[in-house]
Amino acid sequence: SSDDHVPSLDYGWGHAGFFDAFDAKAIRRGYQVYKEVCATCHSLDKIHFRELVGVSHSAEELIASSSEIDVIDGPNDEGEMFERPGKLTDPLPKPYANEEAGRAANGGALPPDLSLMAKARHGGADYIFALLTGYCDAPAGKVMLPGLYYNPYFAGGAIAMPPPLMDGQVEYADGTPATMSQMAKDVSVFLNWAAEPEHDARKKQGVTYLFTLGLILCVTGYYKRFRWSPLK
Ligand code: HEM
Repeated sequence: SSDDHVPSLDYGWGHAGFFDAFDAKAIRRGYQVYKEVCATCHSLDKIHFRELVGVSHSAEELIASSSEIDVIDGPNDEGEMFERPGKLTDPLPKPYANEEAGRAANGGALPPDLSLMAKARHGGADYIFALLTGYCDAPAGKVMLPGLYYNPYFAGGAIAMPPPLMDGQVEYADGTPATMSQMAKDVSVFLNWAAEPEHDARKKQGVTYLFTLGLILCVTGYYKRFRWSPLK
């Protein structure tokens, strides 16, 4: 398949285990990286501001940041479209009006929507992290077309996305040093959350389910022994 170039990566994410939830602080920092860096070119249109409430931000923070964007809404009673400030129920803003504009700005390549990227590619968050940190010089003899960058983790090795991250590109409010790999890690966790916002609830439910199943097993086991004991 086209995914065969991806080696088996396993970076040991804090959320990988059976009992592990996402790191909320990493999601918060990752959203900042997404917003300040990736969103220049990528959309994340399955995610609405309100979905981050209680995950990584407070409602007040998100009401404030959603109101910074302009949203085309309508038609109103006069049948006209109008512009209004964003609100919690709006999806995160798209960088380009349409595909043509997106391609025109990126030398013909289209930056894909990142909402499901952590599920769309084999490797998930591991792949995203590897891709973001994996840019390097092309091996001798590999001819690179102009506008393409060598990245061994991308299928074919030549990607139209310029290396998006460099040390110190954002300033984290929690004081975490914004190294390239730190930002790559945080944005990978953020995109993993975006692709499966139900992740924490699902794992919690799984634990409850197994615990209850175990309890039922004990009760039925005891009942069976008790019920059949006269026949022994
Ligand atoms: C493709 C992530 C920033 C332009 C991609 C892909 C991912 C990604 C996961 C898909 C790779 C694949 O198809 O397997 C990110 C992240 C960013 C970021 C997490 C922020 C840290 C940017 C920026 C630009 C950009 C700032 C524009 C300057 C593109 C383009 C593609 C792409 C044009 C398509 C590449 C191709 O098909 O050759 N990006 N990106 N990205 N990205 Fe980004």
